[in-house]
Amino acid sequence: MMRKWITLAASLTIGLGLGLSATAFSGSADEESELGKIMEKVQKNKAVLTKGTRNVAAYKKAQKEIKEAADEWAKLAKETKTHNDPVKAAKNVAEPQKKWDELCDAWEKEAKKLAEIADKADSTQKDAKDQLNTVNKSCTECHQVFRVDAEDEKF
Ligand code: HEC
Repeated sequence: MMRKWITLAASLTIGLGLGLSATAFSGSADEESELGKIMEKVQKNKAVLTKGTRNVAAYKKAQKEIKEAADEWAKLAKETKTHNDPVKAAKNVAEPQKKWDELCDAWEKEAKKLAEIADKADSTQKDAKDQLNTVNKSCTECHQVFRVDAEDEKF
């Protein structure tokens, strides 16, 4: 008898847990912002760039892909610039619109430099890697200022 109750209680708890997480999941999927979608593309290119610059052998093989991914970043930076909803919600930043534009412009400019480096047959993996780190600073800074409600800071 006792066992039956425990089983029931356990399955109710599991059921409730699943139900709740399913709701939370679909909720966030529906609410995916335009900017969120852009950022997902950004993240895909980031994987190509990080992998392609990780060592000399990888770089030599991936130079063309790196150029393409960096060019894509420059375009996505432009798109991001016009999807500036977070500016309205920004706190602790004096001129959010100006800051947003500056960050997008810097991102675009540095991504183009990375594309130029990768486009040169005789460029080095170190130059590309250093330049990628420079571009990545724009990501980090913007997320710190404008992605205030992020649950994790791994990007
Ligand atoms: C000008 C500001 C800005 C720059 C620059 C920027 N991001 Fe973002 N990013 C955001 C904001 C704001 C969000 C939160 C968007 C949302 O969820 O609506 C975000 C979200 C993300 C996400 C989560 C996407 C998701 O699923 O919601 C990833 C991944 C990401 N950014 C990667 C990057 C990378 C990599 C770079 C640099 C190459 C970058 N971002 C540059 C503002 C920026």
